[in-house]
Amino acid sequence: MLNGIIIAIDGPAAAGKSTIAKKVAQKLGFTYIDTGAMYRALTHKAIRSDINMDSDKDLGDLLLHTEILLIPKNGGQAVLIDGVDCSDEIRSQEVTSNVSKVAAHTTVRKLMIEKQRALAEGTGVVMDGRDIGTAVLPAAELKIFMTASVDERAERRFQENEKRGIHSSLSQLKEEIENRDRADSEREISPLKMADDAILVDTTSMSIDEVADKLIELAEKRMER
Ligand code: DC
Repeated sequence: MLNGIIIAIDGPAAAGKSTIAKKVAQKLGFTYIDTGAMYRALTHKAIRSDINMDSDKDLGDLLLHTEILLIPKNGGQAVLIDGVDCSDEIRSQEVTSNVSKVAAHTTVRKLMIEKQRALAEGTGVVMDGRDIGTAVLPAAELKIFMTASVDERAERRFQENEKRGIHSSLSQLKEEIENRDRADSEREISPLKMADDAILVDTTSMSIDEVADKLIELAEKRMER
């Protein structure tokens, strides 16, 4: 690994951020951190524990008593909640429809940002989410804002689900993605927003490899500086 740098990848739901971030991290020998998985993990535990998801205090207390670990596994990342692998459960429809509400709370965001900054310390990192370049790691050497048309994002999610044996409705997926983007962009604290110094990458007509190659090229240029 050359000098480790911080790469922040933000963007709307299902834009391919985690697929690309994983590839780029693997190629550069960096740590990959999926911050969406952390919000999903808290949401999953809140549902399981019957916590009021409108209460910032209750969610903050729950987070303080929850261990969320992101562990490299088969080229991807396993998510452990209090020692139990919940990688599949955090992608459930129930978690997906509640996660934006949980992620909008002040204390939740404050605690998550502390955790995320600690994870990024002293290593080359690719971190993806909604507020990485704007709030979590504003000094990141490379900031990418990754997007794609909503039709393309719904189609990709549909195909991904099919591969996992989950049959979904394309129009329902599109609606869910639009609702989540709206909630994530309109919340008061660190909303989804492109950082002023981020590079916009529209992946609508690009393949995964094309996007990953572009980011690796940009990262290598930054590391040569
Ligand atoms: O990336 P994802 O779709 O798994 O993220 C799930 C939700 O978590 C997303 O709708 C908003 C929230 N999130 C956030 O608020 N801030 C982040 N840095 C990452 C995710």
